[in-house]
Amino acid sequence: EKVVLAYSGGLDTSIIVTWLKENYDFDVIAVCVDVGQEDDMAEIEEKVLITGASKVYIEDVKEEFVVDYLYKAIKSGAVYEDKYLLGTSYARPLIAKKLVEIAHKEGAKYISHGCTGKGNDQVRFEVSIAALDPEIKIIAPWRIWDIKSREDAIDYAYAKGIKIPVTKEKIYSRDRNLWHISHEGGDLEELTNEHKTDMYVMITPPEKAKDEASYVEIYFEQGIPKKVDGKELSPVELVKTLNKIACENGIGVVDIVENRLVGMKSRGVYETPGGTVLLAAHREIEQVTLDRQTYHYKQLVAQRYAEIVYDGIWFSTLREALDAFIDKTQENVTGTVKLKLYKGNIMVAGIDSPFALYDKGISSFGESKLYSHKDAAGFISLFGLPYKIKAMTEKNKEGN
Ligand code: ARG
Ligand code: SIN
Repeated sequence: EKVVLAYSGGLDTSIIVTWLKENYDFDVIAVCVDVGQEDDMAEIEEKVLITGASKVYIEDVKEEFVVDYLYKAIKSGAVYEDKYLLGTSYARPLIAKKLVEIAHKEGAKYISHGCTGKGNDQVRFEVSIAALDPEIKIIAPWRIWDIKSREDAIDYAYAKGIKIPVTKEKIYSRDRNLWHISHEGGDLEELTNEHKTDMYVMITPPEKAKDEASYVEIYFEQGIPKKVDGKELSPVELVKTLNKIACENGIGVVDIVENRLVGMKSRGVYETPGGTVLLAAHREIEQVTLDRQTYHYKQLVAQRYAEIVYDGIWFSTLREALDAFIDKTQENVTGTVKLKLYKGNIMVAGIDSPFALYDKGISSFGESKLYSHKDAAGFISLFGLPYKIKAMTEKNKEGN
């Protein structure tokens, strides 16, 4: 029998290779999905084979990640609980998809992963896998074995002679990809502790950011970012370019106590440099190209979309249906936004769209053909009627 293992090169997934072989006598097919975590893939490949995997796949899915997932992040504007840009949540269904594809290719009936039994990621992986192939069985070692902590895991590795590059010193639980890096655990578990800026991996702390502002111009076509400063870039290059500019200006850190799907609250620090800039720019272009009703309804959709992505129900009719709504709204979301970035702040410095609904003639204070000041009186009278009636009723009550 074969089992496909989501392999990251970290401590947990390294010991899982040995554990699976010992406890199930399976051939372990290790799969490392490159979503832009900037790990040395050659090193990972070598390491997992030494650990005893019978085969390893390194899958570079960065472009697919941007085009099929992050473009939707931008177009939807989804932000979980007003802060979290969902960097981990978007990557999980894509990783799950690759695991299932390789399981099919290999004729494997099992998929294993290194998520703990307390988090969201186990849900995202397993719900995605079930939606893509309901026959596949999951092995989640963290919910089975007696290893309860990082220290236990290290002891297990030493006992089995597994080479691991870590010490028992407590560091954060991290997850990185092209869009973000997350930090959880360690001193963050105490809410009174301010997070230490030296934990940052993708962003310069605002205090140490450059002293001059940077201007950046982003061109969108139907809601999709295509150019930075007039230069057409590939999807991956575009995100990387904005990651760099945002990094230099200290932009994209949030510190949140979020509600996990599995019930508890959890503290996290997230760095989403380019993503933060892209969502801000996209919001500006939407604000001039969408009418009021559509913009407001889309805000509701964004909140729901964020919950769907967070909860791991990516492969669902509801997500696809909301994408259809969102895509319809993006038909005229085309144009250029100029932003000024300075020490953690984003300011608008110019918006230019061929489909702007903003009309200087109508919006400015003078009289125009389309808008008569006199019409406003009738409008206000009808618009205010319910409140007038309410006030009259209250007055009658007082009179009785
Ligand atoms: N709390 C975030 C989320 O649920 C980040 C999870 C990070 N995952 C990890 N394996 N370190 O999306
Ligand atoms: C984990 O528990 O494996 C990571 C955190 C999460 O999934 O929320």
